[in-house]
Amino acid sequence: MRIEGKEYRTIWFENNVIKIIDQTKLPHQFIIKELKTVKDAINAIKVMEVRGAPLIGGTAAYGLALAVQENNDSEFIKKSAKDLIQSRPTAINLKWAVDRMMNKLSGINSDQILDIALNEAKEICDEDEKFCENIGINGLKIIEEIYNKKKDTVNILTHCNAGWLATINWGTATSPIYHAHKKGIPVHVWVDETRPRNQGANLTSYELNEEEIPNTIIADNTGGILMQRGEVDMCIVGTDRTLSNGDVCNKIGTYLKALAAHDNNVPFYVALPSSTIDWDIKDAKDIPIEERNSEELSHVEGIDENNELKKVLIYPTKSKAMNLAFDVTPAKYVTGLITEKGITEASFDGLKKLFK
Ligand code: MRU
Repeated sequence: MRIEGKEYRTIWFENNVIKIIDQTKLPHQFIIKELKTVKDAINAIKVMEVRGAPLIGGTAAYGLALAVQENNDSEFIKKSAKDLIQSRPTAINLKWAVDRMMNKLSGINSDQILDIALNEAKEICDEDEKFCENIGINGLKIIEEIYNKKKDTVNILTHCNAGWLATINWGTATSPIYHAHKKGIPVHVWVDETRPRNQGANLTSYELNEEEIPNTIIADNTGGILMQRGEVDMCIVGTDRTLSNGDVCNKIGTYLKALAAHDNNVPFYVALPSSTIDWDIKDAKDIPIEERNSEELSHVEGIDENNELKKVLIYPTKSKAMNLAFDVTPAKYVTGLITEKGITEASFDGLKKLFK
């Protein structure tokens, strides 16, 4: 998608380095950063220069290719794979991508190992882009249906950033929105700010602006009253891990939006590529929920009057804070899952019909 009119993907390999858009600096500074070693890739995932489940997967895949480039000794590659998987706990795409890379590389000792690793990482990213595009084509039907009934702007609420910046391109939750906009359907997006890291305000609103899609940032607790007032036609969110029973783990606060949507008969959709399905964990209690540094809550970052990035403390100095990064929305609150293969109910049978 576009930034200042120029088409980008979120990650690419050029001159022996990975190039990423540093998301910790958006929306105030647009910086393309180079990752030269597997350690750089691990750090980029940890500090969230790259984030969003599919992009974490793509970065891990290219990160492993960097490991091969540095040292193609099998013990080094294995250790790098383990460190990459441990860089963030909740998004299943990370392990999925590293496992896929390791399967591809297993038993290969030849001179071609680097080319094979780079090709597979590119394949993982190209596939994600195609899957996200298909999610858009499938999800467009829902927006079109609402528009045909309403004959007026379709108001869509989204949480966090499941946009193109969270994937390789198109996004998951935003892909149906981009497709609707391209088709001339009037859409307006309610963007949850998404405390504490403000991915909604900093990233979703930013990328929608760049594509000229009308959007309004709201505080995280505003969605409920908007739904009560009939000002939300549907919700679409992304996911970091969807269990085979249809339970959805996503950015903290998603669950509360789903409850409000349920109470107000607002359809609540989750958009995902199949790489985000966890077929192994059966009980949502077993999903590793990331707990991040409480400084993300107690401090906020922005630009000052001299256009310089500044971080300031907003809490009482003696207060403790707790920063859980994800929650789980039970399948019963999910109207449907929008995938690359079609839309299905959030259930084992629904997912099995599409994917097994
Ligand atoms: O902590 P983040 O910013 O990586 O969390 C991202 C989300 O929760 C997204 O909704 C999810 O990864 C889906 S991205 C298409």
